[in-house]
Amino acid sequence: MIIVLMGYMASGKSTIGERLAEKLNYKFIDLDDLIEEKENASVSEVFKTKGEIYFRKQEALYLREQLQSKENIILSVGGGTPCYSDNMKAILDQKNAKSVYLRASLPTLVEKLMRKKSTRPLIAHIETEEAMTEFIGKHLFERAQFYNDAEFKIAIDNKSKKEVTKEVLKTLF
Ligand code: S3P
Repeated sequence: MIIVLMGYMASGKSTIGERLAEKLNYKFIDLDDLIEEKENASVSEVFKTKGEIYFRKQEALYLREQLQSKENIILSVGGGTPCYSDNMKAILDQKNAKSVYLRASLPTLVEKLMRKKSTRPLIAHIETEEAMTEFIGKHLFERAQFYNDAEFKIAIDNKSKKEVTKEVLKTLF
């Protein structure tokens, strides 16, 4: 089985994914890490030198490759992955894949991303909390239309990583 974890930047996809993989004895794959490995460059460098369109092409390619996996995997995708290149359809069409949206509120995301923006090229330039709130508010509104198509939705606000992991397991199995 393939469990696809999705959600906005800083919603805990990678950490929760690693924990789930450990509990279930599944392989953990982070799509951004995979792209970085294949490109031999960080996501920020890929955006800078080759541009976002190139990044989105590679993202769609490697997503489809992973969706063909015959192993049990937890696949944590990037915040934008479900929103481009018909990727959400590719995920939903895959019969042995389950999709999980880790849903965080706007204030939670703003708080986390003010601290964790430097490695994220789409928001690294945003300086104030007001500007971050305005940007993420619009962005999340657009993206939620895709995320909400996930089969399972888990609210993460005010929950520890341990609690979220437990909730995902309870919801899926
Ligand atoms: C992106 C999210 C990032 C990464 C890239 C673009 C996005 O992944 O794929 O910077 O469009 O939201 P994380 O969600 O893991 O930060």
